Amino acid sequence: MKHLLSLEQLSRADMGAILAASVVMKRQRGHHASRPLEGQTWALLFAKSSTRTRVSFEVGLRELGANVMFLSAADIQLGRGEPIKDTARVLGRMVHGVIFRTFAQADVEEFAHYSGIPTINALTDEEHPCQILTDIFTFQEQRGPIQGKIVTFVGDGACNVPASWVFAAAKLGFELRIAAPKQFQPPLSLLERAGFTHVHAQPSPVGEVITGSATTGGKIVLTADLQAAAKGAHLLYTDVWVSMGKEAEAAERIKVLAGYQINAALVRHAAPDALVMHCLPAYRGKEIDDATFEAHAQTIFDEAENRLHTQKAIIAWLVA
Ligand code: CP
Repeated sequence: MKHLLSLEQLSRADMGAILAASVVMKRQRGHHASRPLEGQTWALLFAKSSTRTRVSFEVGLRELGANVMFLSAADIQLGRGEPIKDTARVLGRMVHGVIFRTFAQADVEEFAHYSGIPTINALTDEEHPCQILTDIFTFQEQRGPIQGKIVTFVGDGACNVPASWVFAAAKLGFELRIAAPKQFQPPLSLLERAGFTHVHAQPSPVGEVITGSATTGGKIVLTADLQAAAKGAHLLYTDVWVSMGKEAEAAERIKVLAGYQINAALVRHAAPDALVMHCLPAYRGKEIDDATFEAHAQTIFDEAENRLHTQKAIIAWLVA
């Protein structure tokens, strides 16, 4: 039984297979030779809001032949305290696969264990694997192989999206720079889990710079120095400063992260043809300014569309 629970657990070979299949899914949309989910019913089980993930999975599953049901976690007994493992065993007897968006990574893993059906992590507090696979597909579609390139993540570097980027950098062999204040940088334990070695700190005028390397050629840099992190980058990437579930910290986060914004001044430090991406939703004036967002909207909405193609590739890989 295959699942997609995290990039941490996904092999480099499987990442490569999904990325290659994404190209085919996009090219063949509307002309698929087979509908591998014909006669099946898949459920989307969501405990958090969603636009892109929900719509792209619903459309993608239908295009692959499945019937789809959307279950808000709050509307089923899960929301009244029924255990995950019981919900999983019920759904496992009735549907053929589940797309699960929730808070704890452990809940997605428990669901996969007890359900006995393919389970996809549609975002937890720890990872957003479908998003980052899509981002890499989008980068490669527009700029070629990501191996050896420089990706700079700007903003809250201690949440799910940058964590998935860390695992991807170690596996696919690119340089990931995370530009964030110290308290919004990922823990060193995450770098070690990803396979980065020789992790060490060097002093700099704006605090320590942490670096590490992986056997694939992947590199990691954690720094508070935004301009240094952007220098020569092939991709500037950001996400919201206040992730779902962190609303109570909003004022403090906006204060501490102020300045960690993608804007025209920052883009000038990147490579001349650098891409700008955002996993969306975007908060103009916070993690990105309006003019920069609109200047790069074509790429950002290609990225949003590509959720559909990459997630169809993930599902086809799961059920193959
Ligand atoms: N990027 C992303 O996952 O978007 P949604 O929260 O709208 O699904």
